[in-house]
Amino acid sequence: MLNELKGFKQIIGESPQMLKVYNLIDRVADSDSTVLIRGDSGTGKELVARTIHNSSPRASKPFVPVNCGAIPKDLIESELFGHEKGAFTGAISTRAGRFELANGGTIFLDEIGELHPSLQVKLLRVVQEREFERVGGCKTISVDVRILAATNRNLETSIAEGTFREDLFYRLSVIPIYVPSLKNRLNDIEVLMNYFIEKYCKKKGRPMMEIASDVKECLCCYSWPGNVRELENLVERLSILVEGDTITIDDLPDHLKSDSLKSVTTLPSTKLTPESVTLPIEGIDLHSFINEIELSLINQALKTSAGVKSKAASLLGLNRTTFIEKLKKFSH
Ligand SMILES: Nc1ncnc2c1ncn2[C@@H]1O[C@H](COP(=O)(O)OP(=O)(O)OP(=O)(O)O)[C@@H](O)[C@H]1O
Ligand SMILES: [Mg+2]
Repeated sequence: MLNELKGFKQIIGESPQMLKVYNLIDRVADSDSTVLIRGDSGTGKELVARTIHNSSPRASKPFVPVNCGAIPKDLIESELFGHEKGAFTGAISTRAGRFELANGGTIFLDEIGELHPSLQVKLLRVVQEREFERVGGCKTISVDVRILAATNRNLETSIAEGTFREDLFYRLSVIPIYVPSLKNRLNDIEVLMNYFIEKYCKKKGRPMMEIASDVKECLCCYSWPGNVRELENLVERLSILVEGDTITIDDLPDHLKSDSLKSVTTLPSTKLTPESVTLPIEGIDLHSFINEIELSLINQALKTSAGVKSKAASLLGLNRTTFIEKLKKFSH
């Protein structure tokens, strides 16, 4: 697999969408270009940022993350750029900011969409010139820092609303990387499950758990609003709560079962229209998405018909031979 070849084994997933991400990481790692990592919450944006740093010539230098959404507005400037002694009440000694700490390495500006507009203009200068002054200082400090940023916000909307500077956006997104949501790469769910099962079973010192086949189906019908983080948390919980050696449908939390049930029961209704599928901001891989929809519908038809192929075929408006051909296609 490309992720193993490139030495970033900690990112799991073999879907075409993730292969695209690995390819981009590989192509940007060697350069000093600024990268904007986008994607929904829990998709692995920080993991991608760390992987870019670890695969870059700066790997032996610091990787300094800053969560722009978690630091109060009054403190963020000093946090990023440092301050001189006496610059404000409480500044009892001179302190280096995160940009100085990252010198020679990489700074990761997480949740960049939350950065207050007054700081955005100061950041713009650093992105352009790699120069700044500490709060209360007049000496200009130059640094050699690679900048990576991440957001789960739609920055285009923030620009339209006037809360994010367009010039900063273009400076940051020299190379955008979209990390796809889990619901758009259903065939990664099982590999991720197995990876986390191994991780948590080892940690808890228990034998590996198997996954019952109806559990797999249920997981593929769920929408995963918390993405990989939610899946990881689920497996950690299961590694504590499941007593036998197999995860069964009864072990799954109710919201997960009811969500998947909903999608199965609404399917035959007329509600399923092309308009109900919306194009995500990062775009999709049409071919693999259509394949995933096809596979998911085939699995659901098989489930509803209790495995009777002719019945499943008629639920999909196919004749039995075409249905079996499709099954063969997906078993490769
Ligand atoms: N492809 C993946 N393979 C293995 N682990 C993953 C993968 N994607 C995410 N994870 C794990 O899921 C958790 C969430 O990932 P991460 O913190 O990178 O997400 P994020 O996109 O930064 O989320 P947020 O927007 O909420 O900050 C982490 O524990 C991370 O290691
Ligand atoms: Mg994050």
